[in-house]
Amino acid sequence: MKDKLSIAIDGPAAAGKSTVAKRVAENLSYIYIDTGAMYRAVTYKAILRQANLENENELSQILAETKIELIPEKGGQAIYLDGKNVTNEIRTPDVTNSVSIVARHPLVRNDLTKRQQSFAANGGVVMDGRDIGTHVLPHAEVKVFLLASVEERAKRRHAENLIKGYPSDLKKLQEEIEQRDKLDSEREIAPLKKAEDAIEIDTTALEIEQVVEKIMELVKERVR
Ligand code: CDP
Ligand code: CDP
Repeated sequence: MKDKLSIAIDGPAAAGKSTVAKRVAENLSYIYIDTGAMYRAVTYKAILRQANLENENELSQILAETKIELIPEKGGQAIYLDGKNVTNEIRTPDVTNSVSIVARHPLVRNDLTKRQQSFAANGGVVMDGRDIGTHVLPHAEVKVFLLASVEERAKRRHAENLIKGYPSDLKKLQEEIEQRDKLDSEREIAPLKKAEDAIEIDTTALEIEQVVEKIMELVKERVR
């Protein structure tokens, strides 16, 4: 029996992955790895460089000279790009609406997948994304696929934007989420997909704590 597990949490945009993954990691004193933040960081850098986001080689070249660090902070995680804290910058609409284009390229995915696997090499990790259970950590002891209706997911992001004081249009948000889900699900390499051995949790009508409890149950079953 392993005492430090690897836990993979996948699902579409705004299903609650990072919120729930962070809490589970805190409960277990595991490290939390937000792989979406890594794709966002590369996208942010590519936009700053005015790179052609369709050009895989250009992006791969940028990645080769890019350092990405995930630093635990009180209540979350800070993302450092080449030594600079870009935690807020990677969440702008510009980045959000371009990230799935960057994430489609095999060279980008190979590079980031290797980094993610090295972060998780010693176990004791909760990792969230789109392809964690299927590709990044195929041997994870606990795999969860979080779902929620697209209306509920758009509402959640909308509420988040209002709290942060960002302008937010619910209808537009829903369209953007649908578009991103489509790109993420239909790409050829490591698409958004439930792993065969993942447990699906529909969170549409669940509170965050209820989702966390369900995952903690799955963890307890594995270590029992
Ligand atoms: O938080 P949100 O659901 O908006 O997205 P995210 O987890 O920050 O991920 C942003 C984007 O990165 C996704 O829409 C995917 O295009 C890409 N991504 C991916 O391709 N593979 C992952 N393991 C994680 C994210
Ligand atoms: O990481 P992902 O994009 O899947 O979603 P998130 O950023 O963790 O969550 C989106 C929003 O939904 C956050 O504001 C959460 O507080 C909220 N929420 C949730 O995550 N889970 C629920 N069961 C209910 C609300």
